[in-house]
Amino acid sequence: MSNPDNIIFRANAGGKLQGRIRVPGDKSISHRAIMLGSLAEGVTQITGFLEGEDNIATLEVFRAMGVQIEGPQAGRVTVHGVGMHGLKPPAKPLYLGNSGTSMRLLSGLLAGQNFDLEMSGDASLSTRPMKRVTEPLRLMGAIVATTEQGTPPLRIKGGQTLKGIDYTMPMASAQVKSCLLLAGLYAEGKTCVTEPAPTRDHTERMLRGFGYTVEQQGNKVCLQGGGRLKATAIDVPADISSATFFIVGAAIAAGSDILLEHVGINPTRIGVINILRQMGADLELQNEREVGGEPVADIRVRASKLKGIHIPVEQVPLAIDEFPALFIAAACAEGETVLTGAEELRVKESDRIQVMADGLVTLGIDAQPTADGMVIRGGQIGSGQVASHGDHRIAMSFALAALVASGPITITDCANVNTSFPGFVALANQSGLQLVAEGA
Ligand code: S3P
Repeated sequence: MSNPDNIIFRANAGGKLQGRIRVPGDKSISHRAIMLGSLAEGVTQITGFLEGEDNIATLEVFRAMGVQIEGPQAGRVTVHGVGMHGLKPPAKPLYLGNSGTSMRLLSGLLAGQNFDLEMSGDASLSTRPMKRVTEPLRLMGAIVATTEQGTPPLRIKGGQTLKGIDYTMPMASAQVKSCLLLAGLYAEGKTCVTEPAPTRDHTERMLRGFGYTVEQQGNKVCLQGGGRLKATAIDVPADISSATFFIVGAAIAAGSDILLEHVGINPTRIGVINILRQMGADLELQNEREVGGEPVADIRVRASKLKGIHIPVEQVPLAIDEFPALFIAAACAEGETVLTGAEELRVKESDRIQVMADGLVTLGIDAQPTADGMVIRGGQIGSGQVASHGDHRIAMSFALAALVASGPITITDCANVNTSFPGFVALANQSGLQLVAEGA
């Protein structure tokens, strides 16, 4: 989807990544910190908060519902929780920009409130599937409407009594799981969600951090409605999804040696590390520690020769946001890389299978999209102009590809990089890329 504030990235060919950097805070954890902090009793102090547009959208929604929130200022946010039943009806529809996570999680959190509301988003979010949340929410007794196609805007009729359900998700989605757990906080009885494969568990971890009991048995997670959340301090680690661009860049660009500090390495997020290691990447986890219930490490990456692999299907949900960058790694690897079981990539901020395949082909790489993945034969990345379709992760992936390209790469429609990675251009230049953003 195009963003009217069109920014063009021009990346010069060549270079290597060096130094020590800390990428911004984790997007998933930052969303959840605002949500749970708002519903808690007491004051939640957040540090390392991601000041990207998606998280600001979540923050503004809670302000619009009467929560007093100070910041963000240099990653510090103070949330004055209003308790489980303290939210107030917003004066106007809630606008969530590009953020699917905000809309899906909020649909659950807000389904059990006693007021009506509407949520909408930008052109991309307006095409994204919402039935995956509205169908189970209706089973819980919520009244939630979408367009006929099951897309936003989403309208919720408040004042419903929700009932706990035992739900098996048809797809591995942390957003759906989290939506239902958040609705379950307001439901009578027990809400259980079973996932077909493990997905990120930040909601479960953070609920426990706020003093809420969450039971886990294999792939099934359950909680009892009607409890309370107690404010806590949250230190948000650097986002492994943002670190990924530099991990891949350093892995492919000869002579690179970079240290990424304080990166979240939650086991449900490290598919990118597992996959790159299998491809032969030289990744070293240093100084492993735990911060506020989330494992963290510094990641050292040195360039190495990569080889093509069949990506293990169980790694797919654990690396779901990292495939645009992993496709660049595959394009630089010797031999063929095959991805299957990743049909979810077609309904992200863009159709990441098609858009990445188109861009790679433009740059001279043999990339064949399939219904649920891609087959990429490694080769020399060429020069040219590629379209990001307003997808932040695609824009950043092609920018890093320039490190090994035979000539400059131009990327269109890059304004949405600010949804997840403010300061990307400066940090990329500081680490060794030659990148200019035009129209900024
Ligand atoms: C997220 C879950 C994932 C991921 C998204 C963030 C979350 O989405 O792609 O960027 O914070 O729960 P799905 O649950 O749709 O896979």
